[in-house]
Amino acid sequence: MESTPVLLQAHGVCHRFGTPVLRNFDLTLHRGEVHALVGGNGAGKSTLARILAGILRPDAGVFELDGQRYSPGSRREAEARGVTLMLQELSVLPTLTLAENLFLHELPSRWGILRRRTLRERATRALDRVGLGELDPETLAAGLGIGEQQLVELAGALETDCRLLILDEPTAALTSRETALLFAQIERLRAAGVCVVYISHRWEELQRIADRVSVLRDGERVVTMPMREATYPDLVRWMAGRELESRPPPRPRPPGEVVLRVTGLRVPPAVQEVSFEVRAGEVFGLSGLVGAGRTEVLRALFGADRFQDGIVELWGSRVDWDSPADAVEAGMALVPEDRKAQGLLLPEGVRANTALPHLGGWLADLERENHEATAVVDRLAVRCDHLEQPVRTLSGGNQQKVMVGRWLAREARVVLLDEPTRGVDVPARERIHALVRELAEEGRALVVVSSELSELMTLCDRIAVMSAGRITQTFRAGDWDVERLTEAAFRGHAPGNRIHDRGSE
Ligand SMILES: Nc1ncnc2c1ncn2[C@@H]1O[C@H](COP(=O)(O)OP(=O)(O)OP(=O)(O)O)[C@@H](O)[C@H]1O
Ligand SMILES: [Mg+2]
Repeated sequence: MESTPVLLQAHGVCHRFGTPVLRNFDLTLHRGEVHALVGGNGAGKSTLARILAGILRPDAGVFELDGQRYSPGSRREAEARGVTLMLQELSVLPTLTLAENLFLHELPSRWGILRRRTLRERATRALDRVGLGELDPETLAAGLGIGEQQLVELAGALETDCRLLILDEPTAALTSRETALLFAQIERLRAAGVCVVYISHRWEELQRIADRVSVLRDGERVVTMPMREATYPDLVRWMAGRELESRPPPRPRPPGEVVLRVTGLRVPPAVQEVSFEVRAGEVFGLSGLVGAGRTEVLRALFGADRFQDGIVELWGSRVDWDSPADAVEAGMALVPEDRKAQGLLLPEGVRANTALPHLGGWLADLERENHEATAVVDRLAVRCDHLEQPVRTLSGGNQQKVMVGRWLAREARVVLLDEPTRGVDVPARERIHALVRELAEEGRALVVVSSELSELMTLCDRIAVMSAGRITQTFRAGDWDVERLTEAAFRGHAPGNRIHDRGSE
């Protein structure tokens, strides 16, 4: 790496939000390298990314880009110097078309005179790069699923003429196929001499794509090394400053009575026909590609969307909610996929957000709320300054912990979790997994949707694989492996078929 030219140097970067977030941070980035940034939730990765991209002004620090002083005052200015950031939290605007979203940063300077045809062609090319070539660039972004939104955002980032591309947890909502597309694009950029900063909590990905890795802990860079010399326990030790506690293997549980029975569920166009049952004490996984209909199944069960056909039974009685409030009343909980749009009250504090499921008639009981919020913060090690800190200002992984954690104290007997560990660091992921198993051991019934096969394989007693709105196969613990699960996920897709075939969410 020393042989390739230096692209960017950062010296003495300091930033604080009340408490220090980056402390005297130094970093050197080379052309044509993929540089991984890893660290626990709240370590300062996204803050550094936002500083590099001109979104945030650091309190102190000097940057040189290609030997020249670099101190961008805005995102646009950074992009003009060739530095582009793909944000951790989605920023696709639902009321604009895909084309408008893609070329947002060029507006309004060129928009006025841009011919529609040219724009359309460019947009189609950009979408094609990320495997979305069959979407119409003039449709509104509102109808896209979260994985597709992320791909649109990536397509936009790839359209800029960049020297330094920063990807902040780009694969959080992607499955293996989309991730492969992303990696192909990263390879292409690397070969062209672009430096890619890659922020992720996923070890397999880092190993596949990164040339070097820097570890952040509490806003400091503790080490930088070639990726091939890094081992997983090493990285975790660098991140945490201690050994990772080893976790006991999951114990086989005797299955209880059937709690949730779903027969012939249909939510067109995403869910064609889905039937399964979940027993007390069981963790039931739903696997499949983005767009297979997994999220829509959970939403329909929770009363967030109406289903057209099918029977849903809880403890043998048929239910048909008018709204999620009915589902909550009956003892159901949903941890949604999209924490920004559905999950959290971002301007509100940690306390208000953990207390949320009590809303609807309950009198606020400050003492109880404080108690519960403290329990969530302790149990999942949420990194916050105090319980009134707005959730908007927590790091991505810590927001996720709040969302999962608030069901801790709840009476929910059926818990639906959609991508429960998206964006959380390794220790927190272990804690959330332990929590899911504890909830099962208490006799609750759990349904988990995850795009990570390894997560489902550690957590679940059974895994149902969905493809194009149907369950193609259900596996029991021990009967599965990555190949068989993957094969089942692609079953029913003609080769070359578009996999993003959901009409709306
Ligand atoms: N606007 C803000 N006001 C107050 N604190 C903030 C603000 N933005 C970020 N922080 C705090 O800065 C710290 C670092 O956050 P950052 O988002 O950089 O972490 P991260 O390393 O990206 O974590 P994650 O892996 O969870 O995404 C966090 O403790 C967060 O709460
Ligand atoms: Mg972050």
